[in-house]
Amino acid sequence: MATQRVRIRRSTPPFNPSEAPEEPEELLEITLRVNGTEHDLEVPGRRLLSDALRHDLGLTGTHVGCEHGVCGACTVLVDGRPSRSCLMFAATAQGHEITTVEGLARPDGTLGPVQQAFVECHGLQCGFCTPGFLTTITAYLEENPDPTQEEAREAIAGNLCRCTGYQNIVRSVCRAAELRREGEQQ
Ligand code: FES
Ligand code: FES
Repeated sequence: MATQRVRIRRSTPPFNPSEAPEEPEELLEITLRVNGTEHDLEVPGRRLLSDALRHDLGLTGTHVGCEHGVCGACTVLVDGRPSRSCLMFAATAQGHEITTVEGLARPDGTLGPVQQAFVECHGLQCGFCTPGFLTTITAYLEENPDPTQEEAREAIAGNLCRCTGYQNIVRSVCRAAELRREGEQQ
C-alpha cells in the first residue's frame, strides 16, 4: 500500500495563548510518520510530540494528563516501543515510526485484540487513561505473548488510572493475549 503524505503548512498556536512568545518563534520543517502516514509540518523546536499529534495532526486519541512523564496517558509507540509523548520533542520524533491509539485498529477498521479485550473485560470507565494502556500493552504482548496475572500487573505498573482499580485492566491484558493467540491460529 502506498504511503500517504499530508502537508500542514503551519503549526497551530500553542494550546494556552497566554504562553505565546512575544516574538514569533522560528519554525522547523519536520516530517512525522504516524500510523503509516507521513505528515510535513512546521513547528517550533520546543513543540512536544504530544501537542503535535493532538493539535497539529488532530490525533486526539493521545491524551495528556500530567505532562511530566508520570501518568502514562500520552504513551505512543516509537518504533514499537512505548514512549511518553509529553517528554519528547516533535522534531526528535523525525525518522521514527510513531503509532498512536488510532493506529491500533486492524487494517479493516475493526478493533485490535487489546482494544477488543478492554471492551470485553470492562477495562475502562472514563477512558482518559485508556490510550496509554492500549499502546503500552500492545508493545508488551509483542515481548511476552502469554503473561501471568502477576506479569500483566507489572506490565501496566507505569500507567495511572483513576477509575478502574486495575483489576479489569489486568484481566484485559490476559484476554488480549488470548485473542492474539487465537488470531495467530486462524
Ligand atoms: S501526560 Fe505524559 S506521562 Fe502524563
Ligand atoms: S478509566 Fe478513567 S482514568 Fe482510567
